[in-house]
Amino acid sequence: MPRKSPDATYRKPDRFTRDAKKAGYPARSVYKLEEIDRRARILRPGMHVLDLGAAPGSWAMYAAQKIGKNGKLLAIDLNPLEIALPPHGTFVQADAFDLASNIHEAYAPYDVVLSDMAPKTTGNRLGDQTRSYELYMRALEVAAEVLKKGGSFVGKIFMGEDLPLARAETRKIFEEERLIRPEGTRSVSYEIFVIGLRFRSRDGRARGKGA
Ligand SMILES: C[S@@+](CC[C@H](N)C(=O)[O-])C[C@H]1O[C@@H](n2cnc3c(N)ncnc32)[C@H](O)[C@@H]1O
Repeated sequence: MPRKSPDATYRKPDRFTRDAKKAGYPARSVYKLEEIDRRARILRPGMHVLDLGAAPGSWAMYAAQKIGKNGKLLAIDLNPLEIALPPHGTFVQADAFDLASNIHEAYAPYDVVLSDMAPKTTGNRLGDQTRSYELYMRALEVAAEVLKKGGSFVGKIFMGEDLPLARAETRKIFEEERLIRPEGTRSVSYEIFVIGLRFRSRDGRARGKGA
């Protein structure tokens, strides 16, 4: 029997894709955040959340539901969302490397910064990994600017030789760092999520409301 190409695996709607569509989410990625949230207990009612790389909008929808109407969500992506956010959620179309007028600080300090940012893959694995590492490090930099003390971070990165460096940089600013590769990740994908828990600030000083 001929082996499936990775492309064919990406096109085929699997159980996660079908369940996501049935539940009204634009993408299967919602199950990755759901599992991360279940295992690391990140999102709670009333929290302020920044979602980088938010389109088409599954993570933003999930986060908005978890934080509820007393929370605040700011979602950012190069591309528009395919869903409407509830009133406590705002979407800004922007490049994470070019956040004019500090738009990302709208609801700062944040309890949580999420990044599911990914480059358009080219098939050149090394090049894709490098770009993914740059997006991860940018998300970590933004998190260090806007998180409150004790806050959490979730960042996607493609596994490669830069992963240990990304983890080391994360450990510098969070008390706990761990890796999660959710069950909903396609078997052919080399993405993984680095989780930072209990933000201590870039330079070890306390940050937060009034700090
Ligand atoms: C895997 S998708 C995110 C899926 C999303 N979390 C969801 O649940 O619907 C990755 C996203 O990263 C975005 N992205 C890539 N580079 C970016 C950048 N420099 N600034 C903002 N968004 C970026 C892409 O436009 C793409 O929508």
